[in-house]
Amino acid sequence: MPSTFSNCTVVDHPLVQHKLTLMRRRETSTASFRALLREISMLLAYEATRDMKLRDETIHTPLCEMQAPLLDGKKVVLVAVLRAGLGILDGMLELIPSARVGHVGLYRDPATLQPVEYYYKVPEQLEDRSVIVCDPMLATGNSAIAALDRIKQSRPGSLRFVCLLACPEGLANLAKHHPDVQVVTAAIDERLNDHGYIVPGLGDAGDRLFGTK
Ligand code: URA
Repeated sequence: MPSTFSNCTVVDHPLVQHKLTLMRRRETSTASFRALLREISMLLAYEATRDMKLRDETIHTPLCEMQAPLLDGKKVVLVAVLRAGLGILDGMLELIPSARVGHVGLYRDPATLQPVEYYYKVPEQLEDRSVIVCDPMLATGNSAIAALDRIKQSRPGSLRFVCLLACPEGLANLAKHHPDVQVVTAAIDERLNDHGYIVPGLGDAGDRLFGTK
């Protein structure tokens, strides 16, 4: 579903919305949170890859020959923003097992809320490839902007950002710096609080995914 933000598509499928509510509940266990993120990510991947190119190839069914569509072009690249992006990556890889994978390590300085890069490794030659960046929470948007800045240096064919939750502040910030990047998310929450958390949100996605708190 297109949202009021022209740079964002909200996947309003009932299964996505149901699973997201389960994830938001504070009593949801780490194991359930992880499984739900994996499941939702497959459904988000479905939307994020909607415009993948197809080519027709001649195949033989048991009955006859036919022209049938297959994915065309170079392999998709999935880039996980560490560490919570790993949770989305798992589900996306289930749907696109042949994807190449990159990792961007960014942490948020708690005082300035600015991203600090500590790791960067992506497949070589991103030209002509569709790149999908994964991070569950589009909060201030600063980490997403930093990751996209870095990836754009390699001139990818196309860029997309997949998250579980976004907020108006993060979407506006992202649109200002990367108006060409479309966001796919399960929901746009109300706001960002003074600590850079999405409200109502689901808390710290990394901690909930890995059970670190
Ligand atoms: N990162 C999180 O994990 N949660 C938020 O609400 C914002 C950023």
